[in-house]
Amino acid sequence: MKYIFANWKMNLGTRESVALARGVMRTLRGKEKTPSVVIFPSFTVLNEVRKVMARSRMRIGAQNCGTDKKGAYTGEVSISMLEDVGCEYVLVGHSERRFVFGESLDVVSRRFAAAIASKLTPVLCVGEPLEERDAGNAKGYVGEQLTTALKGVRLPRQKHLFIAYEPVWAIGSDHAALVADMVDMHEYIKDTARKLVDVPESKIHILYGGSVNAVNAYTFLREELVDGVLVGGASLKIKEFQGIVDSATDVITAQEL
Ligand code: 13P
Repeated sequence: MKYIFANWKMNLGTRESVALARGVMRTLRGKEKTPSVVIFPSFTVLNEVRKVMARSRMRIGAQNCGTDKKGAYTGEVSISMLEDVGCEYVLVGHSERRFVFGESLDVVSRRFAAAIASKLTPVLCVGEPLEERDAGNAKGYVGEQLTTALKGVRLPRQKHLFIAYEPVWAIGSDHAALVADMVDMHEYIKDTARKLVDVPESKIHILYGGSVNAVNAYTFLREELVDGVLVGGASLKIKEFQGIVDSATDVITAQEL
């Protein structure tokens, strides 16, 4: 299986979100073999998007989650609230949360632990800034992000482990990672995750994110070590997103996945 995750970030109001969700549904309709598509809209439109997609194969997720069940946590949205509006997935530790809003390794690991303990499937986002890559420390940096979030995690038997590798410098930059560098990092992430969490390899899914578009998606998705892509900007444009979904469908068909 290949996974196409669409992170809409803080971009769309209700009308635009509903229209785009309908558009994405149309791209999947009638096709026999399609990737698993999960949309991550803003909190405020989760309910509307859920209603639109109710009878589709698409799933929805949130872009972040609170660490606690309830209480005096102004501005946070709890996991049970996300479950309540039909979320099945949640992004944790996205680069923008870490670098723009200062979420520490500790905060990210608490969010991840809370999501693992719930019905949601967290998608742990990791990735190095350019200085770390230039200094030859990309793996050391990502390794620390993985270790702090995954150490001691006990994955419930029915759960899968999703990790998105999104190098900070590749996000929204039009400079996607080189396929060889990305594959090398995916291999490292998979090995590290297996050392940290007791989980069969078949349940670890590693996605690439960072300037994925309709033109380059196929070159990433055809790699065996790439279980899917996490798409930002291109997921807001229906033609681009359709191209990415079609690339995944081509890979699934060609590789008989
Ligand atoms: P872009 O696809 O816009 O580079 O964003 C990637 C991303 O941050 C997805 O979570």
